Amino acid sequence: MRKKITVIGGGNVGASAAVNLATKELGNVVLVDVVEGIPQGKGLDMAQMGPVEGYDVEITGANDYEATAGSDVVVITAGLARKPGMSRDDLLLANYEVVKSVTEQVVKHSPNAILVLVTNPLDAMCTVAHHVSKFPKNRVIGMAGVLDSARFRTFIARELNVSVENVTAVVLGGHGDTMVPITRLSNVSGIPLTELIAPDRLAAIVDRTRNGGAEIVKHLKTGSAYYAPSASAVEMVESIIKDKKKILPCAALLEGEYGINGLFVGVPVKIGANGIEQIFEIKLNDDEKAALKKSAGAVQELVDVLKPKLV
Ligand code: NAI
Ligand code: 2OP
Repeated sequence: MRKKITVIGGGNVGASAAVNLATKELGNVVLVDVVEGIPQGKGLDMAQMGPVEGYDVEITGANDYEATAGSDVVVITAGLARKPGMSRDDLLLANYEVVKSVTEQVVKHSPNAILVLVTNPLDAMCTVAHHVSKFPKNRVIGMAGVLDSARFRTFIARELNVSVENVTAVVLGGHGDTMVPITRLSNVSGIPLTELIAPDRLAAIVDRTRNGGAEIVKHLKTGSAYYAPSASAVEMVESIIKDKKKILPCAALLEGEYGINGLFVGVPVKIGANGIEQIFEIKLNDDEKAALKKSAGAVQELVDVLKPKLV
């Protein structure tokens, strides 16, 4: 029997994710949005893409959650996106309300689902979904590190004129300007990055990675990135559905790992049929530890704003 995957939010990221999930035939897809007609219209359009692309999965759209019942995986993209001049953090209070209400509905209809959060500010929204759902921590996962490391890999590959497939990049921390690209552990087919790129160029690439989301917002003017973000979320869903046990950088609830307690922060995790199956604790040097602590501090500040609501 096919798996069932629900995508909440039929906007740029959600719709692209739904197309991607269908194209990969990972399961039947239900697209949900508050705007009447949008998920139904987009869902029908995507279903009609099936004969052309050669997929048989069912795609439906809805404004309520009946159709989502019994989902195996739920990807939450609902909420406001950034506009020029806005940081991800400016979305905090509005998206808290959205993620809270969406999670309540999801839990009611799909109590055994694995949640993949996309809505920003990502790490804080994971805390909201975890708190509201009361799901075990392995079933609440945030998408950010796959995207941030994909950006890092793209810039490295362009700098060296090599295939992106040869580049392995490690990015830790929260999904914000304080994210922590670890150049020491990133490599090109095993060759340390630090041996291939001069320090000043590498620093510029790290900086561009940290501001990768804002760079796209500046171009688009009316919204934020969605092709790479949706592909990143789908890579995580694929690893769950196929129990691939990929090691991917994702926001996970840390309980002492990296000296961080009770906070969702991006770290390498093993993703399989049970969601997060293992958290990997990399030995960091002092500078990296300090950068990760700073990044976790930025996440903590947002969670502190929400604390009165998370009771
Ligand atoms: P969008 O504006 O294109 O789509 C958002 C959709 O959510 C809209 O269709 C809207 O009607 C819907 N929505 C709002 N409230 C809802 C509710 N209560 N229930 C169901 N649907 C609801 O925005 P886009 O570009 O798709 O981005 C979505 C979110 O993902 C934003 O918060 C954005 O910042 C975030 N994002 C996060 C990334 C990450 O790396 N974690 C990367 C890219 C985007
Ligand atoms: C991004 O990094 C806006 O979080 C989104 O593109």
